[in-house]
Parts: sequence; structure tokens; C-alpha cells
Amino acid sequence: MTKLKQALSALPLALALVGNASASKAPEDILDELIAKTKNDPYLTQSPQNRMMMPDNPAYEWAAEGEKLFKQPRGPKNASLEKCDFGKGPGVLKGAYVELPRYFADTGRVMDFESRLVHCMKTLQGFTDNDPQIKVRHGEKSDIMKITTYVAMQSNGMPWNPPMNHPLEKAMRDAGRELFFRRAGPMDFNCATCHLNPPGTRIRASVLPNVKIGEEWTKAVSWPAWRVGHEAVRSSQHRVLECLWQMRYPNIMPDSDVHIAIISFWTDAARGQPAILPDMKR
Ligand code: HEC
Repeated sequence: MTKLKQALSALPLALALVGNASASKAPEDILDELIAKTKNDPYLTQSPQNRMMMPDNPAYEWAAEGEKLFKQPRGPKNASLEKCDFGKGPGVLKGAYVELPRYFADTGRVMDFESRLVHCMKTLQGFTDNDPQIKVRHGEKSDIMKITTYVAMQSNGMPWNPPMNHPLEKAMRDAGRELFFRRAGPMDFNCATCHLNPPGTRIRASVLPNVKIGEEWTKAVSWPAWRVGHEAVRSSQHRVLECLWQMRYPNIMPDSDVHIAIISFWTDAARGQPAILPDMKR
């Protein structure tokens, strides 16, 4: 598909977001501001090519498909997802993504975006674990990735603000911190081995983001993002899986509490910094 076609297909969504003060900045503008504020931080500036491609991010096409999937009556119950409550009330999407993970009284659990979406697909639409709509988590055939992109974009530019009022929200964040700093596995790595280094530290071509530098970390946790090398939009849970693989840990199941704890910790670590949604990464 040509760049022009991609840009045109992104237009309706871009227009739909106009009028929303915090979302009126494009993801690349938010990145530019972070770069200016940090005087050219090496993690944020590592790929001028990606920065140039951001206005034509193919993730916008996934979002457009996600919007259709979200609004279409589907599944055995023939219902849309428009009544799904992502924490700010049924159907409220604006700002919901940056306030996750959070505690949900109806399930008695802390849930991240993906596990909450799956919950809605099961309860509202009647899908089950064996249906491809739920089973296929990654890749261009994944409904979940498309819907995630559509919903996440509606928090673009807003500060990460996961609630920490319920004791289980704090417990989940604290468990995530343990996981981040606990060394284990055959390589005796923890997340901090790679994500608590001086700015500019690299592994091969990749500049590593530092969890303590908010301006770096907000870009690091800004998923969904188009991964140029994968030619696909990837999610937060996919990133957790990849980093656990790099540490040679065993794979974990989708929506596991390990996912949710790590995502809870990393979102809290980016608190107050603007989300870049969708992002574009290496
Ligand atoms: C062996 C080093 C290593 C360890 C250990 C590691 N990571 Fe990563 N991580 C990386 C690299 C390298 C990238 C960038 C990947 C790329 O550009 O392809 C990355 C990317 C990320 C990103 C997204 C940033 C981006 O720009 O793509 C996040 C968030 C992240 N890691 C979190 C974690 C967490 C949480 C853990 C522990 C569970 C962890 N990492 C453990 C090396 C590591």
C-alpha cells in the first residue's frame, strides 16, 4: 500500500480525535516534545527513520479495523463491545487505557487492558477460550490487537495514571516490582540488568530504555506499537513475553498475573508522562 493511501485511511480516525485537547497532538509531536525536553535523549532519538514514518504508522489501519470489530455485533450473543467497561464506565474509551491496570469489582481482580478486553468478549459476546477471536493474540489475524490499537489511541497524549487506591492494585504493582528486580533464570538476569543503565547503553543496535528516566520509560511502555522489524502491531503483553524470552525464562500464559503485575509496575513507573499511542518501534 502506498504511503498516501495509508495516510488517507488514517484520516477519519485522525479527524475523529480532533477536538480532544489532550489527544490533538499526534504521537510524533509528543515524541518531539520529549526529545526537546531531554535535549536529544539517546533512547528517544535512536531511530530518525521511525520518527519520519510515524505520521504514516500502519497501526492506524489496524485501529480502523479495530473500530469496526468493536462496534459490530459479534459472537454467540451477537453483541458489540460498546458496553464494555474498561474502568471508566461502560463504553467510555477516552482516557481508559492510561488508567490500567486497575481493580474491577465485578471480577474481584486487577486486570490489564488485554485481560479486560477478553473478559468483555467472553461475557458480552459469548466467545470462549477456544474461539480464534480470543485465542489469536498476535499478528495481523488478531482481532484483539486491532481492538487494542483502536481503544489505546483514545488515550494518546494523556498521562499514565494507573489507580493505586485498592489494596490489590498496590499489591499487583509491588509484585511487579519484585519481578522486575528479582534475578532468576539460567542467565541470572532481572529486568533491571538491561533497563537500569546509563542513557545510551545499547544491546547491539538497540538503545535500552531506563525505568527511572520517565521520558524514556513512557516511550518504552507505549504499546500497542508498530514493530517495523515484525511488520505487525504488538501489545504490552507481547513485549513482556519477548523480554522474558530474552532472559531465557519459561513462556507465560496470556493474561497471567505475571503479565499484569509487570505491566502494573511499568505503567506506575511512567506515571505522569504522556502516552505515545500508537507508537512505532524498531
Ligand atoms: C538481556 C537484556 C534485557 C532484559 C533482561 C530485559 N529486557 Fe526489556 N528490552 C531489551 C531490549 C534489547 C529491548 C529493545 C528491543 C528492540 O529494540 O528490539 C527491550 C525492550 C523493552 C521494552 C520496550 C522498549 C522498546 O523500545 O521496545 C520494555 C517495556 C521492556 N523491555 C521491559 C522489560 C521487562 C519488564 C523486563 C523483565 C521482565 C525486561 N525488559 C528484561 C532487553 C532486555
